[in-house]
Amino acid sequence: MKELILTSKFQIFSYDELTEPDRELIDAAKRATETAYAPYSRFRVGAAARLEDGVIVCGSNQENAAFPSSLCAERTALFYANAHHPEQAVTTLAVAAFSNGAFLKAPIPPCGACRQVILGVEERYKAPVRILLYGEDGIYVTDSVKALLPLQFVGETML
Ligand code: THU
Repeated sequence: MKELILTSKFQIFSYDELTEPDRELIDAAKRATETAYAPYSRFRVGAAARLEDGVIVCGSNQENAAFPSSLCAERTALFYANAHHPEQAVTTLAVAAFSNGAFLKAPIPPCGACRQVILGVEERYKAPVRILLYGEDGIYVTDSVKALLPLQFVGETML
């Protein structure tokens, strides 16, 4: 029997330690929580994607009475970015979540489906997406979604 141990590296920043562009992206993700349509979960998520040319595209979770028809903030932002700016890679994605009257203390972890879609964006543009997960007590930063998704399933897996 052999063992495979996979590790992931995150840096943990306070808001003040972030660069100005990253603070701007976090601010945009926090603002985007205000546009969430979350009457069922009351869990408001905002995502902000920075494109290669510096443009910021935002999204928020959009829910539906048929729950699986809803979409997470990350995918709303990324699909909008890819639909409207298909020539621009996404360089950084920030996520924030607001619930029970406050932003989450711990960094908001994207769901598995969103991790897979972020991976698809990395594959499409052949460039990693930096990820900033906002928490009031610290912001987790990593250089690629691969830190959140070991053993990735990509197109090449099928060749
Ligand atoms: N949600 C997101 O938008 N992003 C995440 O990273 C986690 C979950 C949404 C989906 C649903 O509208 C609500 O949060 C509760 O799961």
